[in-house]
Amino acid sequence: MNILLTGGAGYIGSHTFIALREAGFEPVILDNFANSHPVVLERLERITGRPVTLERGDVLDTPWVEAVLRRHQPAGVVHFAGDKAVGESVANPLKYFHNNIGGAVSLLRAMAAVFADGSAPALPTLVFSSSATVYGDPASVPITEDFPRSHTNPYGHSKLVIEDMLSALRVASPAWRIGVLRYFNPAGAHPSGLIGEDPADIPNNLMPYVTQVAVGQRPHVNVFGGDYPTPDGTGVRDYIHVQDLAAGHVAALQALLTKGESFTVNLGTGRGVSVLEAVRAVEKASGRLVPYVIAPRRAGDVAQCYADPSLAKRLLGWEAKHTLEQMCADAWRWQSGNPNGYRG
Ligand code: NAD
Ligand code: UD1
Repeated sequence: MNILLTGGAGYIGSHTFIALREAGFEPVILDNFANSHPVVLERLERITGRPVTLERGDVLDTPWVEAVLRRHQPAGVVHFAGDKAVGESVANPLKYFHNNIGGAVSLLRAMAAVFADGSAPALPTLVFSSSATVYGDPASVPITEDFPRSHTNPYGHSKLVIEDMLSALRVASPAWRIGVLRYFNPAGAHPSGLIGEDPADIPNNLMPYVTQVAVGQRPHVNVFGGDYPTPDGTGVRDYIHVQDLAAGHVAALQALLTKGESFTVNLGTGRGVSVLEAVRAVEKASGRLVPYVIAPRRAGDVAQCYADPSLAKRLLGWEAKHTLEQMCADAWRWQSGNPNGYRG
């Protein structure tokens, strides 16, 4: 059973590729390598022992995406492709509206066209990568899926608009089976140490930044704010192992394909971890000292953000299994074995 992964060469897509193969699916990667490197394909072949099918191109190219769908007849599509840097989205909002919202529209139109002319045997089935960013500044924690949604930057806005587009599509065409996954804070890497997160620039996210400090590429971690109303004054997040996220996509596809009902769920652990706890966990995993300085708060940050993951357990039978220690150990194996990521 083929599954099309738009953005499948990226961080979460590449881990999901392996989990899908292990579960008996045949994933096909669609990517333009705007934020990834073709070397990941060789690594995926090494890990899974079989060739990888790649469709190299842009999800914005609707006729080409249609042709890809006709060629591979996927039973489902996972839409990872998009841009994800919050700061860049503030500086260049049109890039985010174009690639994220435009990319989703393009994919959905291609799926709708292939379904409408009967050239695909399957019902249109989609899993979409949303984010905890759609909760904005939550009034309390843990966060359940019925919390009000808002946005604080164009990246978050693009996720919100896409979620709304998917709801409208379900109303208009009940044949669509759609799983919206709101990821909390993905971290860690495949236990082989062969694939992982490879930020093109200075990492915006905490975990890759901390491992780059541990490996000696950066002098210290700037801890954005030491005076939050949290146990140690630093920001609290729900870090989730990328392997657990990958398993969440397999569970989501299986639920859509067997039960046929659409859903929106949080993918998180339900456990809040502070910045200083994360720094200490990387120190322990790496055996290196991670110097840090308390810096001013980062604009737009919230004090605490962690999931109530019980709906995903109820609907999909999925729950996160990896600990913070495993996340840091796997991230460290990847970072220390590949200090320059896929660039060698
Ligand atoms: P990533 O940048 O590693 O992967 C995205 C992939 O999409 C890249 O390989 C990139 O080359 C590709 N891509 C981008 N635009 C494309 C286009 N127009 N056509 C074809 N390919 C295109 O990001 P990731 O961390 O793997 O995230 C995957 C998805 O999950 C994104 O939609 C992101 O917004 C969402 N998400 C990520 C996080 C996170 O912290 N990593 C958190 C919440 C949600
Ligand atoms: C960020 C994005 C969010 C996105 C999420 C996952 C912002 C404002 N939000 O959220 O939209 O969905 O990533 O990709 O960018 N921290 C430091 N020093 C650093 C980096 C981070 O102290 O160098 C702190 C932050 O203040 C925060 C925690 O570490 O308390 C986690 O930060 P980060 O990894 O950027 O994730 P989020 O803030 O949750």
